[in-house]
Amino acid sequence: MAMKPNLLGPGGRLFAEQQPGKDEVSFRVDNTSEAYYNSPYYELHKNDLQQIPAPRKNVSMQLQLADFTGPAIISAIQQAGKITFHSVGDTGAAKVNREQTVQRAIQNEAEVADAMANDVATGGTNGPAFFFHLGDVIYNFGEGQYYYDQFYEPFRAYDRPIFAIPGNHDGMVFGQGSSAPQVPTLEAFLNNFCALTPGQSPDAGGLVRSVMTEPGVYFTLDAPYVSIIGLYSNVLDGPGVISSQGGKFPIVDDQLAFLKSELQRLTPDRNAGNRAVIIAVHHPPLSVDALHAGSTGVQSDLDSVCQEAGLWPDAVLSGHAHLYQRFTRIAGPNKKETPYLTAGSGGFAATPPQSTVGKAPITVGNDTLVVDPIVKFGYLTVTCDGKTLCVSFKSPAPNGGLATLDSVCVDLTAGKIVPSGGAQKSGMKTKSPRKTSK
Ligand SMILES: [Fe+2]
Repeated sequence: MAMKPNLLGPGGRLFAEQQPGKDEVSFRVDNTSEAYYNSPYYELHKNDLQQIPAPRKNVSMQLQLADFTGPAIISAIQQAGKITFHSVGDTGAAKVNREQTVQRAIQNEAEVADAMANDVATGGTNGPAFFFHLGDVIYNFGEGQYYYDQFYEPFRAYDRPIFAIPGNHDGMVFGQGSSAPQVPTLEAFLNNFCALTPGQSPDAGGLVRSVMTEPGVYFTLDAPYVSIIGLYSNVLDGPGVISSQGGKFPIVDDQLAFLKSELQRLTPDRNAGNRAVIIAVHHPPLSVDALHAGSTGVQSDLDSVCQEAGLWPDAVLSGHAHLYQRFTRIAGPNKKETPYLTAGSGGFAATPPQSTVGKAPITVGNDTLVVDPIVKFGYLTVTCDGKTLCVSFKSPAPNGGLATLDSVCVDLTAGKIVPSGGAQKSGMKTKSPRKTSK
């Protein structure tokens, strides 16, 4: 049987190996960068933010999906009347210690990446159109030499574009002197995701995947039925920071003006029933995980900008916390219900929530933790037809199948979460929670 050709995007963009090999069992370059935590520069500056690289000059801050996938995928989405895409963060396999072998670390990421690639392969032009990465692509310090082991090799079969916002680990820096980092912040991320042209990456180890041409580390992806505004929340383990927060942080490149103008730009099309508007930011504004609490400053920034723009997001997606969490936040004059989903479950680690967290649902103020956090590796599948937005969390099951462990749908017109079982009535198909399927 003739082999099906892989996707060829505009400008010669390629995304996957034609014949991907088996998952590897050892790293090409052993990751030793945990040692950088002890370097003089990091020791002195570990609580400092890093400057945000300016977006490239004279390029649009809005990416069009069609410029990456080409017209056939876009036509298929429009014909189907809906789009599907993937999202997850914290994919980098690097955590090797007394409890976890190299093989296990590689496998944790590979199981997620392979399941995502399989969704694309089996879905064809009606399957997921892209993967929006929620940051922490590479551990521990975002170095170029680990892109092969932690990114290009695991996603070698994923035949669709991968967009990304950086996480703290992608921007962290180290150095043997105390005054300047050895490598500028985000250097490898910029080379691999914010390149001028879609050529081959020197960090890909010969694997096929064109570098991405994002304008910078914050941008908007416009696709049929959905726009994703991606923000960069800087390098601290916590909290995430997207602005100076009224002078509290020395951030020059404030992303709030960008966010406000994007919300205003998207409002007419969103309110006409043509698209959902999603915000993606690495550090979760709401979180009950044991290591990272929610970034209240980011939440406060989002609230004030949404208030000014008069538009609240239809969903907020984050990584950073190494588990799955789903909150509903009620905000705005119409008490809009927005799901806040954390999926830092892409392969680096699976970390339990705070031991003091009780059983869901738990409501504090406007925020409700809707389901008990799920401490498993897995990823989000998002589907939208402009009227309803659905998100499900899928996890590779031990039998080689895939378990859908949680799902939520939002009625975009009403701005309300669809009661369980209502998604099918609205025409969108979603699987019931807690059922396992192949
Ligand atoms: Fe992170």
